Amino acid sequence: MPAPKYFLTSYGCQMNKLDSELVESKLRQRGYEAAAEEGAADVVLLNTCSVRQHAEDRVWSKLGKLRVRKRTEPGLVVGVLGCMAQEHKRYLLSRMPHVDLVVGPSAFGDIDTTVEAARSRNQEIAAEREPARTKHQVAGAGVVAVDQGVSGDTIRRDVRVRPHRSQAFVSVMRGCNMPCTYCIVPTTRGEEVSRPIADLVEESQRLCDDGVTEITLLGQTVNAYGRDLTGQNATLANLLRALHAIPSLRRLAFITSHPNFLGPDLVTAMAELPKVARYLHLPAQSGSNAVLKAMRRGYTVERYLARIEQLRQQAPDVELHSDFIVGYPGETAADFDATVQFVRTVGFAQSYVFKYSPRPGTLAADLPDDVPEAEKERRNAVLLAVQSELTLAKNQALVGQTVEVLVEGESKVAGRLSGRTAHHRLVHFAATDQDLIGQYMPVRVTEALAHSCVGELLAHDAAQEGRHDPAEALS
Ligand code: SAH
Ligand code: SF4
Ligand code: F3S
Repeated sequence: MPAPKYFLTSYGCQMNKLDSELVESKLRQRGYEAAAEEGAADVVLLNTCSVRQHAEDRVWSKLGKLRVRKRTEPGLVVGVLGCMAQEHKRYLLSRMPHVDLVVGPSAFGDIDTTVEAARSRNQEIAAEREPARTKHQVAGAGVVAVDQGVSGDTIRRDVRVRPHRSQAFVSVMRGCNMPCTYCIVPTTRGEEVSRPIADLVEESQRLCDDGVTEITLLGQTVNAYGRDLTGQNATLANLLRALHAIPSLRRLAFITSHPNFLGPDLVTAMAELPKVARYLHLPAQSGSNAVLKAMRRGYTVERYLARIEQLRQQAPDVELHSDFIVGYPGETAADFDATVQFVRTVGFAQSYVFKYSPRPGTLAADLPDDVPEAEKERRNAVLLAVQSELTLAKNQALVGQTVEVLVEGESKVAGRLSGRTAHHRLVHFAATDQDLIGQYMPVRVTEALAHSCVGELLAHDAAQEGRHDPAEALS
């Protein structure tokens, strides 16, 4: 019998992607194989996100298509995993009979058993019914729902299953305890639960033994890591120091940080530890104190600036990245102008900009969504243009310099590879040698674009020249 095939799509953040890796590893251990395309899969899994309406809409539309497909393929297993499974469990279970499993984040421990159970049941249904009749009878076939409890349990990881040989994510905590009024994440992911330092060192060591050289630690408020672990000295700074000691590790990054928890110990760790990435993702969300207060972010513009000032003094090479929400309820044109000014004052190297999207059940959802869509669109475009200008200027400053990139893979342009610097800048360069992927290479930047740089590979040239070195030929 051929191995059953699954097709899994991630719709969410890095944490969602890491969860997908863990689910895949479970399924592979169970004998499943990845399908080359969705149409060839026996099991289609959607690992979903609820953070904005757009993310959910993509999944609802995909579920509509799968409903049609299932009319002719009753044996197909359809699973909704992740944050929408948590958020819309009832609706999915009662109104979407073509969905066989609904599994919230952190309930992935026995996902392979659940998938297998759904598959044998659907196969029986498919075998018993003639295709012409299944259309009407699949409805109500019974749904497997898995415990939605959000726990801190983590699956012991099969470190061999990961998309990149040299890069890996490690989840240091789950959940979020912050009160941001617009955000659904605390509802879908539950309370903050940190993993002990010893576990994280062990997992990271296993990853590094298997060839990983760059680790990115994940947490919704990663720099609040450890505050639920009393008496263990578990802070992000201490965790960075512990992981820094792994000899074969070369880069250590962490996302996402919250301005309220950027303390002197983390600043000192970033200044002292050379393997730590030279960027800090520290979302500000707005540059207006009125909006920050309405969002319950817990800091002011002045406090944000004071915190980063310490970082700039001790670790001046660290660049700042941010997220912004435009069109939050009540955001005036003056509030928005303050955000534009703030972006320029800080000089972020990169920002993600999102149009406010009301999330049912959040505090902000009770407020009138009073910034018209066209105005949200305009603010979004203005802020992105300002950020692009800043990013371009930073990229231009790199022209002529040599940077070290970790080669990640093929670039969209044929004949080029691309990689990232320790500052997380994307650099494309002419090369086709696949063996370079996963290696750290020197690249001289020759051209700056709005979102990336173009450069030339140096070691490659040196190797070519070396071969024709007349001195070598003489010896
Ligand atoms: N924990 C991280 C990121 C959470 S979600 C943090 O606190 O920064 C990623 C980003 O989505 C957020 O930073 C925010 O900018 C955006 N976001 C969250 N909820 C949103 C909403 N309802 N509408 C629009 N953007 C939202
Ligand atoms: Fe959402 Fe705020 Fe938590 Fe980030 S810190 S995940 S924005 S509640
Ligand atoms: Fe989305 Fe859930 Fe991540 S809501 S942003 S997938 S934590």
